[in-house]
Amino acid sequence: MSRSAWIRIFVALLLAIAALLLIRLHVASGAPEQDSVSAGRRLAEAWCRECHAFEMSDAGTMGRAPDFVRIANRTSTTELSLKVFLRSNHRSMPNLIIAPNEADDLAQFILSLKRS
Ligand code: HEC
Repeated sequence: MSRSAWIRIFVALLLAIAALLLIRLHVASGAPEQDSVSAGRRLAEAWCRECHAFEMSDAGTMGRAPDFVRIANRTSTTELSLKVFLRSNHRSMPNLIIAPNEADDLAQFILSLKRS
């Protein structure tokens, strides 16, 4: 085959891959938020519940992890602050390995607990 034929095949392949990626991205961003919240709840039940309560706990938080309602209601808590926290190192909380999409789901779940 000639060189230009190979180049054409290569370009066609690249375009196909780019198209597939675009479709995936579109599907991901079009996912209803509620799915993300319930996925986040499942992850949190498995990974976070041993330390964090999901409902408002009256017991003092001395030496304990704050409950998620309390965290959600802080004015400083945003989707971005949660994701940054989950992706960074902590001193008093174990450093769980959380994939970016899982951090999204966990953040959506925690924010869904916010009370006005
Ligand atoms: C072994 C106990 C433990 C586990 C498991 C744990 N945490 Fe924590 N977490 C803590 C403690 C203790 C704090 C408070 C100290 C701190 O901020 O580092 C905390 C703080 C936080 C905060 C508040 C940060 C802030 O801005 O004050 C968030 C958000 C959080 N955890 C989310 C999670 C999520 C999501 C999970 C599960 C993926 C999780 N934690 C699992 C112990 C834990």
